[in-house]
Amino acid sequence: MMTLNYNNPDLSTEERVSSLLSLMSLEEKIGQLCQSPMLEYDSKKQEYLSQVRSGLVGSRILADTAWAGNAPGETVDPEQINEIQRVAVEQSRLGIPVIFARDVIYGQSTVLPIPLAQSCSWNASLVTDAYRDVALEASSLGINWTFAPMMDVVRDPRWGRVIESFGEDPLLNGAMAAAVVKGFQGDDLASPGSLVSCAKHFVGYGASESGCDYDTTEISENTLANVYLPPFKAAINAGVKTFMSGFNDLGGTPVTSSKDLINGWLKKDHGFDGFVVSDWGSISDLHHFRVARDEVHAAAMALDAGVDMAMTSEAYQDHLHTALEAGLVTIQQIDDAVSRVLTVKFEAGLFEHPYVDAEKAQLCQRAPEHTNRAKELAQQSMVLLKNRDNLLPLVQNETKVAVVGPHAHTQRQHLGSWCLDGKSDDVVSIYQGIKDLIGEQNVLTEYSALTDEWVESAHRADVVVLCVGESHRSSGEARNIAELKLPSGQEEAIEAIANTGKPFVVVQCGGRPMPSQAISRHADAHLMAWQCGTETGAAVADLLFGRACPSGKLTMTFPKSTGQIPIYYNKKPLGKMRDFADYRGYKDVDRAPLYPFGYGLSYAKFRYSDVELMSVADGKVKIGFTLSNLSPIKATEICQLYFSRAYSSCTRPEKELIGFERVDIEACSSRHVEFEVDIDGLGYFETIADYVNPKSAVTFLVGPNSDDLLPLECTSSQLYQTEVN
Ligand code: BGC
Repeated sequence: MMTLNYNNPDLSTEERVSSLLSLMSLEEKIGQLCQSPMLEYDSKKQEYLSQVRSGLVGSRILADTAWAGNAPGETVDPEQINEIQRVAVEQSRLGIPVIFARDVIYGQSTVLPIPLAQSCSWNASLVTDAYRDVALEASSLGINWTFAPMMDVVRDPRWGRVIESFGEDPLLNGAMAAAVVKGFQGDDLASPGSLVSCAKHFVGYGASESGCDYDTTEISENTLANVYLPPFKAAINAGVKTFMSGFNDLGGTPVTSSKDLINGWLKKDHGFDGFVVSDWGSISDLHHFRVARDEVHAAAMALDAGVDMAMTSEAYQDHLHTALEAGLVTIQQIDDAVSRVLTVKFEAGLFEHPYVDAEKAQLCQRAPEHTNRAKELAQQSMVLLKNRDNLLPLVQNETKVAVVGPHAHTQRQHLGSWCLDGKSDDVVSIYQGIKDLIGEQNVLTEYSALTDEWVESAHRADVVVLCVGESHRSSGEARNIAELKLPSGQEEAIEAIANTGKPFVVVQCGGRPMPSQAISRHADAHLMAWQCGTETGAAVADLLFGRACPSGKLTMTFPKSTGQIPIYYNKKPLGKMRDFADYRGYKDVDRAPLYPFGYGLSYAKFRYSDVELMSVADGKVKIGFTLSNLSPIKATEICQLYFSRAYSSCTRPEKELIGFERVDIEACSSRHVEFEVDIDGLGYFETIADYVNPKSAVTFLVGPNSDDLLPLECTSSQLYQTEVN
């Protein structure tokens, strides 16, 4: 049989893959399943390039530690990438290009808000556009593949990695994850401006016990199916090309060895045809977890479960051959994994465009349209939590503003922990942003760390902008905290400013919802600014002075105290004593959060009214309502639709988000808004395999946040044309 030329782009990907596979030796096949890290390239270059030449390196991860986000290490060097690629393409026997990967989590040179903040925009299309920019910047440098989005549902803000998540709701998480996948991969994965995206961490890692990273996870099948898996389904639907298996042990089975989840749920049941990479060393961890007898067994278990590529190659490079000889895996399993990796390489156009133009790469970094979009996203990501007596927006030129506090001048902090290449110098500090907007003559500040100097500035100002919050080193991978409280001294600093009697706004920076007694008691206004990337200061200034109207809404419940964790809006009903407030929750703190999921203020005031069932047809239900803007300013409101069922065969949350929309509304006007919902989507999983939707009456709930909703009862006969209850 004649072998087809796999380099011919006119052949189908399938033909190219099978032709190439038929020519590969076992060593070359295993090589495609190995991803090696950066590690001292200059000193080990010859050794490394000789491995590439022998076809032993399928992928290179551009990271030099297992905590890349915490210790960025080397930057990306397009010349180095070209050098390695040249050896792979021009000097290896079959010329298979290496796929270069880097954690481009929320930005390259232009850095966007952390994903938790981005999700507060509830603006999937802006997120897609912003990630297109990121893809362009990163791919121009030679990066082909990124390990994002992370779609771990999170309910515990002590866990440092909440910064990478889109919050506590499965629907919103899925919508944002899909938006990121579309942004990275674009319409054409082979176009030079696209990056292969990776859905991670499959699955359940966000439930790390006690908020400790890497800890065990215990999730019931029902919760796994209804809460943790749906965002991954959304990523598959969006066409994501790779998945990453998590570090976590899930109820006795580390997910990296879970045949049921990877080969079963992901590949077989959901037809995922891309490839799965392990997390950093998570294959060797199977030995550490003692579910594998040794490293060979660990490699075999992972491949058998469906993990196609080993991040940090040794697991497969050193042991897969032995596992095959011992009959622990089959050559068909290896071939399947190799085919998946090659398919993505062909689809990503690597065979056609293996190199980058190092000079051109610089031209698109921090292009003005990228920074403008990053600023818009930062404005939409920040959440106004309090605005007593409408202190905000501040009046430009009539006010002398003191901008003080530990974050008044910080820059690196706003890049968050998972930022490998963004530069601190590119970050607009909060002081800088305000000064640029209102002029230096209107701003007082203090560079000193002495809080009494801040107080002195406050005394001389009309209004104070006090910038507080945790360091970026308190969140991210392996950076958990046991107590949700501001760093020491900040509560006192807030009180000291309050004691001046000057009106003051607290701008809170950080990677997680974090309550503060002093902010709650004393601040006149409170803006949650998260870690919003390179354009942070400009966005804060625009919001404080009304150049932009706040619209962001929380996607993670803001607790009152650490003891309330886990706290999330989509709770199941309480049992006994539910009707007696005194017996609910705790004796020392009530059960309600400080701010609920979906909460956020605007400078406009909105009213919701006239919720009505518009129609039920073709499997869809339409719910309409009137949104009124009672204020003389144009604004945007994030309208939310929840529902709850009168009956279900297993317990369900008291309410679940089922729709949302950013609605622009003119000053002093009303608009009719409609939500359309698939009736099929009102169901739930009884088990992973059984999706059911028993006919039942349903209450739809419309409003500005999960705690302030107008009900619309809908009988089962209205929904299903049959009366049940
Ligand atoms: C993290 C992943 C990351 C990988 C590569 C791991 O420690 O869990 O999210 O993509 O490192 O840097």
